[in-house]
Amino acid sequence: MVGIVKSFALDGLKGFPVEVEVDLNSGLPKYDLVGLPDKAIKESKERVQSAIKNSAFMFPIKKITINLAPANIQKEGAGFDLAIAISILVSSGQIKSRRYKDFVILGELSLDGKLRSITGLLPMIISAKEMGQTKFIIPRINEKEASFVSGITAYAFDSLIDVVDFLNEESECEPIAIQTWKPADVDASEDFSRVRGQYQAKRAMEIAVAGGHNILMVGPPGSGKTMLAKCVPGILPDLTFEEALEITKIHSVSGVLDLNQGVVTKRPFRTPHHTSTVIALTGGGAKANPGEISLAHNGVLFLDELPEYPRHSLETLRQPLEDGVVTIARAQRTVTYPANFILVASMNPCPCGNYGSKEAVCTCTPSAVSKYLGKLSGPLLDRIDIKIDVGRVKFIDLTQETNEEPSSAVKERVNKARKIQLERFKGEGVFCNAKMSSKQIKKYCVLDDECKQILESAFEKFKMSARGYTRILKVARTIADLEGAPNIKPEHIAEAIGLRTIEKITL
Ligand SMILES: Nc1ncnc2c1ncn2[C@@H]1O[C@H](COP(=O)(O)OP(=O)(O)OP(=O)(O)O)[C@@H](O)[C@H]1O
Ligand SMILES: [Mg+2]
Repeated sequence: MVGIVKSFALDGLKGFPVEVEVDLNSGLPKYDLVGLPDKAIKESKERVQSAIKNSAFMFPIKKITINLAPANIQKEGAGFDLAIAISILVSSGQIKSRRYKDFVILGELSLDGKLRSITGLLPMIISAKEMGQTKFIIPRINEKEASFVSGITAYAFDSLIDVVDFLNEESECEPIAIQTWKPADVDASEDFSRVRGQYQAKRAMEIAVAGGHNILMVGPPGSGKTMLAKCVPGILPDLTFEEALEITKIHSVSGVLDLNQGVVTKRPFRTPHHTSTVIALTGGGAKANPGEISLAHNGVLFLDELPEYPRHSLETLRQPLEDGVVTIARAQRTVTYPANFILVASMNPCPCGNYGSKEAVCTCTPSAVSKYLGKLSGPLLDRIDIKIDVGRVKFIDLTQETNEEPSSAVKERVNKARKIQLERFKGEGVFCNAKMSSKQIKKYCVLDDECKQILESAFEKFKMSARGYTRILKVARTIADLEGAPNIKPEHIAEAIGLRTIEKITL
């Protein structure tokens, strides 16, 4: 008898069904695995054999042929272990009931027969559900991840023995209870109330987050750039369940998901170091894993000391910054991951940090300054909607007792502005102003004559690109939304222009 067990595999974030077929034949004992398995699947032999024996079942001494169908797609990971073991036990008559036919079976086995967690469970379950599969057998450790998906029946187990007892109808158990998801409270490491002065920078940060705009802070050492960036998690808009699921799929595939939590409850704030490789940043490698820019999806990617990052790493950000997705080429196919993040970056204007300052003297040679700034290409800077100067904090601001506004108050305004945007773009597949298409810009950023005049003179003065022009319109739309204004007014355009023109780094 050929035991055919349903399982699932992943291609990027999309799942596809895999049938595990086992055929037992008399002949010299052998274990053949076909159907484009990777090394981890090939090694399943040792795990499955030990797990079956250590669970007091019989491992057939026969010619065993295992096929993972469809045979023409590469399959990865140890998530087929359980399906292979069940298929062998069905083929050898140790599982007699037909119950196994109802389930998609997922799980890795340890040598003693315990079930281990697998990566990518959530995207597999969601894809399977879309294809009409609603019943699952999964490892207990992954239980939380499945518990937020409605419309499915999933059973979680600790060991192979428990799964076999259940499939043989010798024991019954309750399916995982569906839970309701709730975003977590914010726990930012810094709060706006602790940042003295820097009112323009704080305002710029609020606008950036409200409209999903990229922001670059330029200033001398110790002016509070890193501190301001650390405040960002505290003012990010509330996370929705749909967004949380998108983030969780990526985190699940790359194995960074907190399994005790199941589904992500906070917007990501990723801070890759400047020594990170291009693959770590954008994704790739043998398994085409998502990189930092995808792990930052629906959240923030913070690049501190921007010119320290290798130029070619920064250049690879250009496509994702424009399209909100990253495409990774593999040997035979390409994988696309979402990478829709707010880029928050900081830098000094030169190696000593004082270039362009009215108060301090820059000790760098002109060539050192141009080499430093040369790491940032024009096209990259063009994709950053907001570029601000974060100057030295004034003594009076540092010493004066003031009541600085806390992040919670800023967040409230951000949430209001985001609500307006969600309402505006309902059904259009866009969630914030920064992602408007040119058609949407035409529709939602209508300018009167005075606005047009201001924009025209800035366009000529700063030699703006067409992209720069549209980005100003988007930022102006966000400023109007923060005010609750239905139309963009001249003061909104003027403020948006002021947030984009740091001549010393754009020239
Ligand atoms: N505006 C400010 N209000 C209160 N404290 C500040 C402010 N700016 C800086 N500080 C203090 O100075 C420390 C250093 O600031 P921060 O690291 O943010 O500077 P930076 O601009 O990132 O400098 P660098 O360019 O060297 O990275 C902060 O941890 C904080 O204690
Ligand atoms: Mg810093």
